[in-house]
Amino acid sequence: MKMKVAVVLGTRPEIIKMASIIRQLGKRQVDYFILHTGQHYSYYLAQVFFDQLKLPPAKYNVATGSSSHARQTAKMLIGVEEILQKESPDIVLIEGDTNSVLAAALAATKLFIKVGHVEAGLRSYDRRMPEEINRILVDHCSDYLFAPTHMAKTILLSEGIPENKVFVTGNTIVDAVYQHVEIARQQGNFLGTLGIKPKEYFLVTLHRQETVDDPVVFASVLRGLDEVAAKFCLPVIYSIHPRSRRRMNQFNLKPRDIKLIPPVDFLTFLELESKARLVLTDSGGVQEETCILGVPCVTIRNNTERPETVEVGSNIVAGTSPDRIIECVTIMLGRRTDWQNPFGDGRAGERIVSIITEVSNG
Ligand code: UD1
Ligand code: UDP
Repeated sequence: MKMKVAVVLGTRPEIIKMASIIRQLGKRQVDYFILHTGQHYSYYLAQVFFDQLKLPPAKYNVATGSSSHARQTAKMLIGVEEILQKESPDIVLIEGDTNSVLAAALAATKLFIKVGHVEAGLRSYDRRMPEEINRILVDHCSDYLFAPTHMAKTILLSEGIPENKVFVTGNTIVDAVYQHVEIARQQGNFLGTLGIKPKEYFLVTLHRQETVDDPVVFASVLRGLDEVAAKFCLPVIYSIHPRSRRRMNQFNLKPRDIKLIPPVDFLTFLELESKARLVLTDSGGVQEETCILGVPCVTIRNNTERPETVEVGSNIVAGTSPDRIIECVTIMLGRRTDWQNPFGDGRAGERIVSIITEVSNG
């Protein structure tokens, strides 16, 4: 039987983490198409990754854009359903925990289309995070759950998900890093344009709703970063997500010692990340990438759904107070960086495509 696959994605990390799967689908001549929800639409959050990672264009873009959770999810649900009805794929592949992923899972499952969830089984156990709600709902309506690690599989089984639906594949972020890091390290000269030197700066990303939408929390974190710059006498470079830029302006926050740069493409970010002395972040993907790249990470949150990074020693969860941020930076700067990457061998995309094609043949 010839299988048809819909790859549904909508945000920066989904494009990066779906790239190896999309390449495998192409290589094996699987009949597939890409549906972009349009949750991210600015060039540097969306199209730049298609261009740089040489991905085929999305066949559909339902142009959702930004709004409240309910409006955004509702708009995507309607847009995705229309396309799925028209195309009748056998399986919808989604990655991660965004509103795009939730909408695609709900639309597909109610049309009796199989759902394959890449990066299943992550839990922060913090239901104030919109992503946590999305992860739980999506895992529980998926047919194939691609868990990145055994820890994630254990979580899924503990929630009553049948073992025959769960496959431990590794995380496709390892595929993306392995396939691009050498080019980024060798060809990139972004450090030169910023006037900074390898291992002599800190890199920052912060964009989570619970960090930047709260003026008290965001101000406290920025104060902590200013103190880090002063105490360690190193530049702090912050690739600032548009959500955070908007909030910084709205709350009139003016960090003293932090260099703000707009979001950059994947190769540039990998260059910045791999050559940083240490990274401070609230991003999920950045916690994983630093662990893979051997760069110490301080997570500016109260919890993480990537506990594997803390377990191997690449990451520490600092919370949001300036004192604790300084303390955690000091701890991480003193650590060895020869930990083992727990997220797999860089062949997760291959494995996932093998599983879906074998299931459809068998
Ligand atoms: C979303 C995901 C988050 C993920 C992040 C990746 C949800 C609930 N959140 O958060 O899990 O970590 O993407 O980056 O799905 N904006 C632009 N240009 C764009 C997109 C957004 O300027 O292309 C601005 C708008 O002001 C918008 C704000 O960013 O209101 C937030 O965008 P949204 O997609 O709602 O959430 P993210 O913070 O990007
Ligand atoms: N990233 C990027 N440019 C940037 C900042 C991040 O390409 O300026 C990449 C980064 O390499 C990682 C992904 O974006 O692969 C992480 O996405 P984000 O932090 O937006 O979302 P999360 O992983 O928290 O869902």
